[in-house]
Amino acid sequence: MDLNQVPSDSRWRIPGRGRPRDRALGPEPGDRSPAFPPPSACPVAGGEAGTGFAADVAPMPAEWSSAGYGPSALDSLLASAEQFITLFYRENRLGAPDRRLWHVRRRIETSGTYWHTPAELEFGARVAWRNSSRCIGRLYWRSLRVRDCREVTAAPDIAAESVTHLREATNGGRIRPVITVFAPDAPDRPGPRILNSQLVRYAGYETGYGAVIGDPANTGLTRLAYDLGWPGRRPAGRFDVLPLLVQEAGAPVTVHEIPADAVLEIPIEHPEFRWFANLGLRWYAVPVISDMYLEIGGICYPAAPFNGWYMGTEIGSRDLGDSGRYDQLAVIAAHMGLSVTSDRNLWKDRAMTELNVAVLDSFSTAGVTITDHHTESVRFLQHIEREERHGRACPADWTWIVPPAASSATPVFHRTYEDFDQTPNFYRHPPLGERTWPSFHDLRQRVDEVAALRRPRDGEHAPHLRMLEEQVGVEEQG
Ligand code: ARG
Repeated sequence: MDLNQVPSDSRWRIPGRGRPRDRALGPEPGDRSPAFPPPSACPVAGGEAGTGFAADVAPMPAEWSSAGYGPSALDSLLASAEQFITLFYRENRLGAPDRRLWHVRRRIETSGTYWHTPAELEFGARVAWRNSSRCIGRLYWRSLRVRDCREVTAAPDIAAESVTHLREATNGGRIRPVITVFAPDAPDRPGPRILNSQLVRYAGYETGYGAVIGDPANTGLTRLAYDLGWPGRRPAGRFDVLPLLVQEAGAPVTVHEIPADAVLEIPIEHPEFRWFANLGLRWYAVPVISDMYLEIGGICYPAAPFNGWYMGTEIGSRDLGDSGRYDQLAVIAAHMGLSVTSDRNLWKDRAMTELNVAVLDSFSTAGVTITDHHTESVRFLQHIEREERHGRACPADWTWIVPPAASSATPVFHRTYEDFDQTPNFYRHPPLGERTWPSFHDLRQRVDEVAALRRPRDGEHAPHLRMLEEQVGVEEQG
C-alpha cells in the first residue's frame, strides 16, 4: 500500500481539494491510481452549492498545511462548515440553516473552531461512510451507531472506550456497525490518536533473516509496542493480539492491553477438509479501523475508530492469502495434493477458493456475521441505485470495489463508476514513523494568530453573512 501519498502534516489540513487519498475500507489492490475528478464533479463542493451559502463562499485553496492559520485557512474552515451544515439541514429537511450558520461562523471567528451538535456528528459520521468510495458495504450507511466520546481525551479512557466499542460492535457475533468519536483537533489542542491501524491487530515479530512470526503487516506496530515496554507473548505466536497504543495531546504514547474476552476470534476450519483445522489459522470477528481520521465540516476527529463486518475475501484472499501477509496458499495447495511447481494447474486459485470457503463457513458456524463477495456486490449495486433515487451520485473506486476473488463473476466488475472526493469522509493518517505532532508552543502561537486575524476581518464579512448577522445577530448575541 502506498502510504507515502500522505504528507506528514495532513492532520492540519482543512478539508477540500488536494486532500490525501489514502482511504481504506476494503480490500487493497496492488495498483491504485489516485484519480481526481475535476472539482465540478463533486456534488457537495460544486454541483449542489447553489442551494445554500456554499454558493457564495470563495473556492477553497488547493491545500492548506500546518504552517499556521492564515486568512485562507479560516475561510476554508468556514466554507467547509457552511457546506456541511447546509447539507445537514437539507437532507434532514430542517428548514433554513441560517441561525446555525451564524452561530458556527461566530465560533470559528472567535476560537478558530466549532462544535458539532450530537445530531450533526451522527449524520456526519454516517455520510462519511456513505462517501467512502472504496467501501463495497455502504448499503447500510444509515445504520451506523455513533458513540459520542468527544469529551474523552485521556489515553486510559480512550483505551477503555475502545474496548467498550469492541464489545458493543461484537454483540455476541451479531456484528453492529459502530463508530466511536473521540475529541477533535482544536487550534490549541490536538485530539488524541490511536496508533494501531485496527483495534485488533496480530503481532508481527521479526526474527531476523527477514522472517516474521505473525502478521507481517504489523511489524512496525509490534516494534513500537516493544520499544514502549510491551513484553510480547512468550513464546511468540502467530495470532497474538497487540496492545492499543494511544497518544493523548502533548503526551508520550502509552500502551494498553486489550482484555482477551473483548476480542472474539474464530478458528478457521473447512467444511470438507478435516486437515484444515490443523493449520491453526484463526481471525478476529470485527475489523475496527483506527488509523483514519474522520472529517466533518472542516473539523478533524483524529481518533474515530469505526467498523462494519467482514467480507470473506478480505481475510481469505488477502489477510491469510497474500504473500506479504500470512501467505497460506502454498501450504493449503500442498495439503490438497496439488503440485506447486508450475502456475499452470492454478493451484493458487484453487487454494484461495478453499481458503475463502473455510473463512465463510467458520464464521457462519460460529454465529459471527460475515458476508460473501457475491452477495455484497449485488447489494452495492442496490446501494448505488438507491442513492441515485435520492438524487445523489455515489462515488466508487473500481479498483477497491471489485473483489479480489471471482471478480468477473460479480456484477460490480462489469461497469465503471465515477469516483470523486467529498466530505464528510475518512482519510488515512500518515503511516507510523512519518507522523508529526505540532508542539503546544506551535499551537499556542496559532491561537494567537487566530485572535490577531480576527480583528481586521471583522468589518469584511462576505455580503451574505453580513445580511445574516443583521437578521439574527442581535437576538443571538444577547
Ligand atoms: N481489509 C481489512 C482487513 O482485512 C478490513 C477493512 C475494513 N473492512 C470492513 N469489512 N469494514 O482487516
